[in-house]
Amino acid sequence: MNNFTYYIPTRIHFGKGMISHLSEITQKNILLVYGGGSIKRNGIYDAALKELSGHEIFELPGVEPNPRIETVRKGVQICQDNQIEAVLAIGGGSSIDCAKVIAAAAVYEGDAWDLVMDNDKIQSALPIYVVLTMAATGSEMDNVGVISDMDLQIKKGVHSDHIFPTMSILDPTYTYTLPKRQTAAGTADIMSHTFENYFTNVEGAYLQARFAEGLLKTLIHYGPIAIKDPTNYDARANLMWCSSNAINGLLKKGAEVKWCVHGMEHQLSAVYDVTHGEGLAILTPVWMEYILDQKVDAFATYGINVWNIDAKKDKRTIAKEAIEKTKHFLFNELGCPRTLREVGITDEKNFKAMAEKAVCKGSFVDLSVEDIIEIYRRAL
Ligand code: NZQ
Ligand code: ZN
Repeated sequence: MNNFTYYIPTRIHFGKGMISHLSEITQKNILLVYGGGSIKRNGIYDAALKELSGHEIFELPGVEPNPRIETVRKGVQICQDNQIEAVLAIGGGSSIDCAKVIAAAAVYEGDAWDLVMDNDKIQSALPIYVVLTMAATGSEMDNVGVISDMDLQIKKGVHSDHIFPTMSILDPTYTYTLPKRQTAAGTADIMSHTFENYFTNVEGAYLQARFAEGLLKTLIHYGPIAIKDPTNYDARANLMWCSSNAINGLLKKGAEVKWCVHGMEHQLSAVYDVTHGEGLAILTPVWMEYILDQKVDAFATYGINVWNIDAKKDKRTIAKEAIEKTKHFLFNELGCPRTLREVGITDEKNFKAMAEKAVCKGSFVDLSVEDIIEIYRRAL
């Protein structure tokens, strides 16, 4: 196991009715950041405003899935014009990520995009509060925000300890209204975060690997239940807590390698505006098959410990069966799209340029430009 420093300053309030903790926010002028309106339709907006009655609330609605730098800039302007003291995101990863970068850019002299391109420029941020409405990215409990400039075709993660949320409200009932498609995409995203941590070359991180297997089993158990029965509390609660734990460092610290599948997916989102979790669902099994021959033991361990495949079988057989089961889960049980064509990508013309940006070194298995082009092709 590698050395590591583990730091999480985020206070989590988990469970039904925990939105009451918003009343603990001490700052007066607050920027409320949210998406296309789901929080108004399902009542979370009203519930939040009730808790914030003594505060001055300014609003930035309309954060797009795959949030854009232009929206961040709008939020920064509102902060600077109104002496905003804290930013509150209500939504999924997109609203949270947008709020995080607004919070950092509001106290920065230059343009917000500078912070995306050079994370070291983030020296402080306004306090960030979160009400989570979708189990997926784990942004509610990590120090990352992902922002896109569609003109430049760049989608990039901002990493800084200054953008950890101060407090996150995780009420599983707030995810009851998620469309099936988003529940599936969110589950696929959590699964991918877990895989990116689980498939590592670092030896001796036994505990992290068993934690990861626990998360994977939980996703496999509860993902389909949430799809069939959207108001099943235990399913929503377990998915929500998996979301945070897949990316809050618990699985990664001490076992860290570079994440390749996310790098490849971010190119799909940057160029084609693909839904993040769906892009991951398409690429993950293709990536597994592509690297299988180099990593038979690891995939066999995954098959035995997560899918309960008979350990007496030949390792390659177990590994292949595990990948087949992963596909069945993603495509048949969750209903995620299976190919790039299904999400509107019909030709190879951008694959080379995308692959050049997604080259992945220092990973479980390093991927060159040629490797990535081939993975995109097989996913088509
Ligand atoms: O915009 P609204 O109207 O709120 O609708 C959203 C949106 O259309 C809807 N939704 C969310 N909660 C709902 C709901 N609809 C009904 N009921 C609810 N309770 O779902 C749609 C997707 O929302 P979004 O926030 O875009 O989804 P997600 O949480 O998957 O976030 C995706 C973004 O996060 C980034 C992705 O790349 C992508 O840009 N990521 C962030 C990470 C991080 N900060 O650590 C890591 C991830 O790997 C990922 O890259
Ligand atoms: Zn992700």
